[in-house]
Amino acid sequence: MLRIGYGEDAHALTAGRPLVIGGVEIESERGSVAVSDGDVLLHALADALLSAWALGDIGKLFPPDDPGSRQLDSSVIVRRVLELLARRQEGGWHIANVAAVVTLDSPKLGSLRERIQREVSGLLSLPDGAVGVTFKTSEGLAPDHVQARVTVLLQRTA
Ligand code: C5P
Ligand code: MG
Repeated sequence: MLRIGYGEDAHALTAGRPLVIGGVEIESERGSVAVSDGDVLLHALADALLSAWALGDIGKLFPPDDPGSRQLDSSVIVRRVLELLARRQEGGWHIANVAAVVTLDSPKLGSLRERIQREVSGLLSLPDGAVGVTFKTSEGLAPDHVQARVTVLLQRTA
């Protein structure tokens, strides 16, 4: 049996904020405007996982006006989603693979791909090669934003 999950996220970019993508802090003059650390990739991943089981989205779990969401490390969000899923699902499900696209005009991220992929696969306890991340520019159409789109494929073996 298979299930698919899909999630998206976008943040505006501004000077003086960190740019964190897939748990990796990127050297950049601008970072995500956000209540949490603004990690678009992990936010889209969390929504992809929740959507696979029709459990809503991270705004429901971590309301932006909740003081607990402030400056939150987004790996905490993903871990909490994984815990929720482990409690809710019938057993036997595992993540087969994750495919992600990050759209950002600058800086270029290609040299960080393996680090980001490893960070995300580690967070999900997946082997190397199970998380693929591609990068796109917006071709100048959205130079002040960073965006991510993530699909997850889940497989039931039991
Ligand atoms: O958006 P575009 O097709 O022009 O991107 C060309 C290539 O630049 C991508 O395939 C990707 O390898 C790389 N890229 C990158 N970091 C970004 C955006 C694009 O490494 N922030
Ligand atoms: Mg976000």
